[in-house]
Amino acid sequence: MDAKPLLQQYQHRVEQHLNTVLNHSSDADKVRQAMQYSLFNGGKRVRPVLVYMANQLLDGSLAQADAAACAIECIHSYSLVHDDLPAMDDDELRRGKPTCHIAFDEATAILAGDGLQALAFQLLAADNNLPAEINLRMLQILARDSGYQGMVGGQSIDLDNEGKQISIAQLELMHRHKTGALINASIEMGALSSTHATPADLQALNSYSRAIGLAFQVKDDILDIESNTETLGKPQGSDLLHEKSTYPALLGMAGAKQKLTHLNEQAHASIDYFKDAAAPLHWLADYIVERQY
Ligand code: IPE
Ligand code: IPE
Ligand code: MG
Ligand code: MG
Ligand code: MG
Repeated sequence: MDAKPLLQQYQHRVEQHLNTVLNHSSDADKVRQAMQYSLFNGGKRVRPVLVYMANQLLDGSLAQADAAACAIECIHSYSLVHDDLPAMDDDELRRGKPTCHIAFDEATAILAGDGLQALAFQLLAADNNLPAEINLRMLQILARDSGYQGMVGGQSIDLDNEGKQISIAQLELMHRHKTGALINASIEMGALSSTHATPADLQALNSYSRAIGLAFQVKDDILDIESNTETLGKPQGSDLLHEKSTYPALLGMAGAKQKLTHLNEQAHASIDYFKDAAAPLHWLADYIVERQY
């Protein structure tokens, strides 16, 4: 199956919704502009696409998944704005444009990240396309997976380990938190938005998201070495420059690629349970390992 048209449809859908939310001036217009700048700059929208795919796999309606798709992309964009700050990865290019703190200033970038994070929870809490208990469950998932038990925790481990040699187990833990957690949240929230996810569905999808979530960061680490700044839209070699702990740094490039292949096989196997209905998710697992940026 070629799910590229589906990918584009979902990318377009989440962008339209986000645009409606943010495209009006406010009293604090500078920070709103910085939020808008950081949200609309050519991201792949992988996480919202996963929300929609999980929703559709379980026969949901896309409208039920819109709030979750927008919320997860707000959290992701906030994480990138803060990740690029001088106190963190100190990068000046993101998605082919100056990073938020370069285009605006550092204080505005911090506030834009904060604003995007709050907006994510505002959107989910205000949604009325779902029974309230499902919205509440989604809020819990997003809070857990974006906070210290998830992305924020992973970012902290990442920064603490610059210039250090860590074990494979620590590296995996770091990647599962900083990147895997939000990918997990995307799929779980998408599945819940269908309103008829069974425990067996959630279990199979959880195995899938664990595999693609780790694969996503392994591939990101590989691209940091093998790609170039123009294609990536972010500075190639940033990990080496900051002596980051990455899969290629620990396992060598061949070892990192072997790990990626293994994770891809795991991802495919984990959704056999859904038979043909999982074709878009199979396609997306391959997209994650084959992508060039
Ligand atoms: C980059 O994420 C940061 C990681 C978690 C590896 P993406 O590769 O999804 O970035 P965009 O949103 O497409 O720019
Ligand atoms: C960032 O990982 C993961 C986040 C939670 C933002 P990286 O630092 O490797 O992401 P890039 O390479 O800057 O996009
Ligand atoms: Mg980083
Ligand atoms: Mg970075
Ligand atoms: Mg990276």
